[in-house]
Amino acid sequence: MPDRIEEKAYAKLNISLDVTERRSDGYHDMLMVMQTVSLYDEVSIMLNGSGRVRARTSLAFVPGDERNLAVRAALRFLSAIDAGEQGMDIQIDKRIPVGAGMGGGSADAAAVLRALNRMYGSPLSPEELEALSGDVGSDVPFCVRGGTALASGRGEKLETLPDMPECRFIICKPSFSISTPDLFKKLDQIRLRCHPDTAGLTEALRRQDLAQICRRIYNVFEDVDDRRMNTVAEIKGILLDHGALGAAMTGTGSAVFGVFTPGSDTAQVQALLKNEYAFCESAGCIGVLNAPSV
Ligand code: C5P
Repeated sequence: MPDRIEEKAYAKLNISLDVTERRSDGYHDMLMVMQTVSLYDEVSIMLNGSGRVRARTSLAFVPGDERNLAVRAALRFLSAIDAGEQGMDIQIDKRIPVGAGMGGGSADAAAVLRALNRMYGSPLSPEELEALSGDVGSDVPFCVRGGTALASGRGEKLETLPDMPECRFIICKPSFSISTPDLFKKLDQIRLRCHPDTAGLTEALRRQDLAQICRRIYNVFEDVDDRRMNTVAEIKGILLDHGALGAAMTGTGSAVFGVFTPGSDTAQVQALLKNEYAFCESAGCIGVLNAPSV
């Protein structure tokens, strides 16, 4: 068995995000079309004899202990295969912005699970790996599987959808981050005016109709009463004014993405957003990473 392994931890975007119900367990039922994109953190795992699992990241403020989802994922995997004594260092080179709604922490956790399962010779089936990943966080199962999927329940119930037709994402994050539990609390205080047309969106995906997909891009969190949504609306406006077919905030923000046809010249809008906000990158789609065996 190798004692070192590397894995890319790809970010996700919410092409649509609906909250359908507040549950009695503190979570919310969701209906989301999710997409893996080519922006990634680099995760390296080195097994050692320390008996401890630790993470080290390129960002000083990201914790290296059990507050880090990557550490929790490793511990969950080791307990599932009865190897609780194994120590390791997890090195994470962060490129996905933190507090962006791009699933950075979940992607790192998912990469740890895929990498450890490969390292140990696949003791867990793709389904088992996904099922266990739900204990680590609601977005981790999607990050384990990757591709284009409809997520429901807490986010852990997945149905793989046809791949997004070829397109380009421009992703921009303002300097502020948004806390996920805080935004859920704010959502509970309002009555949602609109819901995304999720059925129409999945149908448009089946027809590979990019224009119709983009017409249905929608995130209910943008309706929350929060001044920061003005900045989100501003960024969306800039993306749409420069030819995006659709734009929305991803997850609980604060990153916003626009979808462009593959040949579009996005240099000007990227330069403008980079100048005005903290982060702006271009990304493409990534397909399924952990295909279910059935
Ligand atoms: O599952 P995860 O630990 O990522 O969730 C973080 C927090 O986000 C939860 O404690 C909850 O407040 C909120 N959440 C929710 N409904 C979901 C997912 C997350 O209310 N479906």
